[in-house]
Amino acid sequence: MQWHKYLRNEGHYPSSTEEEGSRGGLRSTLNRWFEKLPGGIRFKLAFLTLSLIALITTGSSLVAIRILDEALLHSLVQRGSSLAVGAATPAGYSILSGDILALDNLAAKLTEAQEDVIYLAILDQEQTVLAHNRLEAAGGRFESLSGREVTETPDFSVQKVKRDGRSTFEFLAPIRFAGRRLGEVVVGIDSAPYRAAKASARNRMTLISLLAMGVGLGGTLLLVTRFTQPIKRLATGVARIRGGDYDVQVETISRDELGELTTSFNAMARTIGAQKESLEGSARELEEAYISTVHILAAALDARDNYTLNHSARVAALSLRVGRRLGLEQNELRDLEIACFLHDIGKIRVPDIVLNKPGPLDAEEARLIRLHPEHGAEIIGLAQSLHKYVPVVLHHHEWHDGSGYPKGLRGEEIPLFARIVAIADAYDAMTSSRPYRPGRSLEEAIEEIRAYRGKQFAPRVADQFIEALKEETEEELSFMGGTL
Ligand SMILES: [Fe+2]
Repeated sequence: MQWHKYLRNEGHYPSSTEEEGSRGGLRSTLNRWFEKLPGGIRFKLAFLTLSLIALITTGSSLVAIRILDEALLHSLVQRGSSLAVGAATPAGYSILSGDILALDNLAAKLTEAQEDVIYLAILDQEQTVLAHNRLEAAGGRFESLSGREVTETPDFSVQKVKRDGRSTFEFLAPIRFAGRRLGEVVVGIDSAPYRAAKASARNRMTLISLLAMGVGLGGTLLLVTRFTQPIKRLATGVARIRGGDYDVQVETISRDELGELTTSFNAMARTIGAQKESLEGSARELEEAYISTVHILAAALDARDNYTLNHSARVAALSLRVGRRLGLEQNELRDLEIACFLHDIGKIRVPDIVLNKPGPLDAEEARLIRLHPEHGAEIIGLAQSLHKYVPVVLHHHEWHDGSGYPKGLRGEEIPLFARIVAIADAYDAMTSSRPYRPGRSLEEAIEEIRAYRGKQFAPRVADQFIEALKEETEEELSFMGGTL
C-alpha cells in the first residue's frame, strides 16, 4: 500500500481536501461579494439574475451574429466562385477556337440574371478584355487592383476591392487548358447587398436579444417577487413578535420550502405565545407570593413592637391615597405599597428592650433607633430584586429642611416615595397611643403637619396628605351613615 502514499506525495493531482478547500474558498468569496452588494435580497437576486441573463443573451447574440456573417460570406463566395469557375471552362474552349462572339454571349448570359453581379470580364494572358458584359469595355485593358484578400484556393481567389467607387467582391478564376494558362475570368459582385443582409441579420439578432432580455427581466421580477414576498411577510411577523404581538400568523401561499418555513414560523409564534402566557401566569403567581412574603415580614416586624401593630399596613393605606392624588401610575403605586411594608425593616436589628421601652429613650437608645434606616437599606440591598426600595427605606426619616437623618438630604433631594412614606409614618406615630402619652386626634395631627409643612414635610406632599385625610374621613362618615 506504500505506492498510494508516494502517488499522493508526488502531488500530481489535488487531493479531495484541496479541491473542497478550493471550492469552499470560491464559495466564501462569492458569499462575501453577494453580502457586499447594496440593497435588499430582492435587489441582489434581481441584479444577479439579470446580469446573468444579459451576459448569456449578449454572448449568444454575438456568437449567432458571427455565425450568420460567416454563413452570408460563405454563401456569397460559393455563388461568386461558381460563376467564375463555371465560366472559365467554356471560356477556355472559346478562346482556343477564337470564338469571341461565344465569349460575349457567355459574359452577357451569366450576368443578366444576377442583379448584384456588376461585371464579368474574360481576359487573356495580357489582361486584355476579350469579353465583358458591357460590350464597350471589350478590347481595353483590365486594371488590376489590390484589395483585402477574402479567400484563395487553387481554382479561384476572392478579394475585396473598390472599383469605380463601389465596394466589390472580385472573384478571379484562371482559364486553363492542358496545363496552360490562357487567361482569367473576373467576376465583380456588389458588396452592398451583402452588407445590407449582414446589417439586417444583426438588427434581427439584436431585437431578439432585447426581447429575450425583456422577457428575462419580467420573469426575474416575477420570480424574485414570488420568492421574496414570503420572506418579507416572515420578517414582518418576526418584527411583530419582537414588538410583543404573539398572535401573528403569516399566510402560507406555497407548498414548497418557503411554505414549510411559514408553517414552522406560525407554529413557533403559537408556541412562543403559549409559553409567554404560561410565563406571565408564573410571574403573577411569583409576584403574589413575593408580596405575601413582604406582608408577612412587615406584620412580623410590627408584632415585635407592642405599640405599632398594623403600623405598616396603615402607612401603606395612607401613602397610596397620597400617591393616587399625586397621579402615580399603577406600577408605581404597587412599588410604593411594598416600600411602605419594608420601610422599617431595619428595626429587626434594634433590641427588643429598646424597641418596646415604655418610657422616653435615652441618647444611646435613640442612637440605636436612628440606625434603623441604614440597617434596613443594608438588609434590602442583599436582594437584587429589592434594590429599588433601598432609597425609600434609607431616606424615610429625612426632613424637608435637611435636619433629618441619616444623610441630611433636603427638598427634592429626598426621593418622592420617601417623602410620602415619611409623612404617613409620622402621622401614624402621632395618632398612635404610647404608654407615656396618648395618641393625638385627627385635628391635632393635621395642625402638627401644617406646623411642620416646609420643615419636616415636603409642602406639596403635606398638602395632598391633609386632603387625603379629609377624603378618608368623609368616606368613613359616609360609610357609617350608610350602615346606620
Ligand atoms: Fe422608621
